[in-house]
Amino acid sequence: MAKKDYITTQDFTKEELLDIVHLSLLIKENIKAGYPLNVLYHKTLGMIFEQSSTRTRVSFETAMTQLGGHAQYLAPGQIQLGKHESMKDTSIVLSRLVDVMMARVQQHKTVAELAHYATVPVINGMSDYNHPTQEMGDVITMFEHMPEGKSFEDLKVVFVGDATQVCASLMMIVTKLGGHFVHYGPKGFQLDDRPQYAGIAEENCKVSGGSYMCTEDPEVALTDADFIYTDVWYGLYEAELSEEDRMRIFYPKYQVSMDMMRMAAPNAKFLHCLPASRGEEVTDEVMDHPTVSVCFDQAENRLTAMRGLLVYFMGKMDETIEICNKNLGR
Ligand code: CP
Repeated sequence: MAKKDYITTQDFTKEELLDIVHLSLLIKENIKAGYPLNVLYHKTLGMIFEQSSTRTRVSFETAMTQLGGHAQYLAPGQIQLGKHESMKDTSIVLSRLVDVMMARVQQHKTVAELAHYATVPVINGMSDYNHPTQEMGDVITMFEHMPEGKSFEDLKVVFVGDATQVCASLMMIVTKLGGHFVHYGPKGFQLDDRPQYAGIAEENCKVSGGSYMCTEDPEVALTDADFIYTDVWYGLYEAELSEEDRMRIFYPKYQVSMDMMRMAAPNAKFLHCLPASRGEEVTDEVMDHPTVSVCFDQAENRLTAMRGLLVYFMGKMDETIEICNKNLGR
């Protein structure tokens, strides 16, 4: 049975996730070729934000416009959610007012509860646990920058630095799709130190044939890496780290520099979910490198992913594939 919500990629099979990747890429091709696609005509997306956002907010709203629909921005503090109205009631009411919801929340249980009571699809726009729409954009970017002669199952994807929810999300999707995931970070800040993620990678790898490890050893981590990915060092879980603590814990060993990129595979690419703290987790030279950095393609692919996810969860996949293929003469 098709799943109603997109809360974690762990709810999906490899095949289902690849369906969304291929759908997203087909819609991108169709839109880049100039063909309109109004499959979500007159549909409304309710966008709940408990935190600020650039990429997630703008890409969802643009996606709805491009697909013929409309998005409503429900800014932090602007709706009754969880304060003057229970989550259950908000969820039931919004289900009667919009066709699909997305939520960026402080606590994962908020988006899970929203989805539980909603009768329309709910998409997780990031919680303290994971960031599954980011995962989709990341995988699309890896497919677009796939090293010659390799498939996803051949990829070595290295996350450098703090075990943020983006790091955890990358682990989930890379191991689900059969790739080889390494977290290169200091002990105490590794995925293995986060009990909420225990066993996920192993479970995925058993099915997919992928692999997983955490290490502090740069040779082990970086040799032959196809993608090097990082995120800010803010210590998102327990408490935000001070700048002094961030530099003491991660700098310079875990800063992505051109010296680090040279330890990876010859054509290795740099990824970052953004926003970045330039000069901390990554140097300007890497961020702005014309061939090494694909982090701005990755940001654009948040839009690619949102279109695919909205079409998929609104039950319009088959119709959309047919329209796109016809437009593209296939
Ligand atoms: N990567 C990401 O989610 O960016 P925003 O916080 O700007 O949405």
